[in-house]
Amino acid sequence: MTISTSNIPTSSIDPFSEEYILEPYAFHEELRQLGPVSYLSDLGAFVVTQYEYVKEVLNQPLVFCSGAGVGISNFKKDPPWRVPSLVLETDPPDHTRNRAIISKALSPIALRALKTQFEAEANLLIDRLLEKRNFDAVKDLAEAFPLKVFGDAIGITPHEREKAIIYGNMVFNGMGPKNELLKQAMSRADEINPWIMSVCQRDNLSKSGLGIQIYDAVDSGILTEMEATTLVRSFLSAGIDTTAHAISNAIYSFVSFPEQWLKLKANPQLSKSAFEETLRFESPFQTFFRTTTSNAKLGNYVIPENEKVMLSLGSANRDPLQWENPDIFDISRITTGQLGFGTGIHGCVGQMLARAEVEALLQVMAKKVTSIRFTGEPKRLLHNTLRGFESLPIEFI
Ligand code: HEM
Repeated sequence: MTISTSNIPTSSIDPFSEEYILEPYAFHEELRQLGPVSYLSDLGAFVVTQYEYVKEVLNQPLVFCSGAGVGISNFKKDPPWRVPSLVLETDPPDHTRNRAIISKALSPIALRALKTQFEAEANLLIDRLLEKRNFDAVKDLAEAFPLKVFGDAIGITPHEREKAIIYGNMVFNGMGPKNELLKQAMSRADEINPWIMSVCQRDNLSKSGLGIQIYDAVDSGILTEMEATTLVRSFLSAGIDTTAHAISNAIYSFVSFPEQWLKLKANPQLSKSAFEETLRFESPFQTFFRTTTSNAKLGNYVIPENEKVMLSLGSANRDPLQWENPDIFDISRITTGQLGFGTGIHGCVGQMLARAEVEALLQVMAKKVTSIRFTGEPKRLLHNTLRGFESLPIEFI
């Protein structure tokens, strides 16, 4: 069998076009048909869309690295606009050390205590929304919930928390090309950048939150003060709008598949598998990039060194070679192996916390809300990396 760099199929699909962002699934299918890897000629990057190969790339972090950025930009050629993340955009051994510090703060004991708070806040929020009846599920529910419970868990000031959503938008739109979406997302960068660094400083964090615990590593001489601030920033950039979009996507999916809502209502314990299925069906993180550190073999092809490789988690999660009826939202499906949280050494470090948040919310909704319906046209979010909604006008009864 010949292994070649030259015969990699080429496609002119632009994964950052409005058409693709709004409805990516037919494009995914076309790219999956091309094989394990193809070259996107307009973007100047390789793309991997089949489940098996997305997983293979994620599990080879030394060949497909994150340190040169997990967006289209190659930090070896283009300096990044912010101090890179010390976990997401870092390779071993630094990644190993920094991730262990974050993981320690997110211990199972800490999560158990938070779960009770998440349930209490979910009850309060859903009661308020049932009273209100008509509202925007994006602003009033999907964003409001993590801003409150996750913000409190990390221990940031309640003042102007919604700026964390704007920051997340900057970071994840920043993983795409320098297009209009990035320009819009960066329009308040001069105000948001200093704000995020300031709320993550030791003196501005609550004494009882998870964020302050990162500074223990400064006190024991492992991190500098600035590194600790940057690590706390990782919580906020990665943990709020991702969760918010997952909640919006769950609500959208339940309204679109009403029999699944009835299934959840009949058995609220299914909230766990409902969340996993939402991440598979409408993955909030559609894409991440890696950079090849050497000639990298994938299937019968070789991707040359120092090339950007786009991984489509959204496509892998709908690959018919992996999933039966992938375009059907089914909360009783066995979702083991879904890639909505990634996998391998960079697999989401906050996944247990995200699960605790969203499962608490879905469970309370299943118990208290009889029916959900759209009262207006849902408006999809135009975003370079994340899949979600800009607004979802709904009624709760
Ligand atoms: C539904 C919500 C969430 C989704 C869909 C999500 C998804 C992901 C994905 C796909 C990755 C892998 C990135 C890669 O391979 O390059 C990741 C990494 C990460 N996530 Fe999450 N995430 C969510 C919530 C959270 C929360 C709540 C936190 C914080 C507690 C968090 C913190 C992180 C961090 C720090 C990383 C980088 C890990 C590393 O590079 O080792 N995420 N997330």
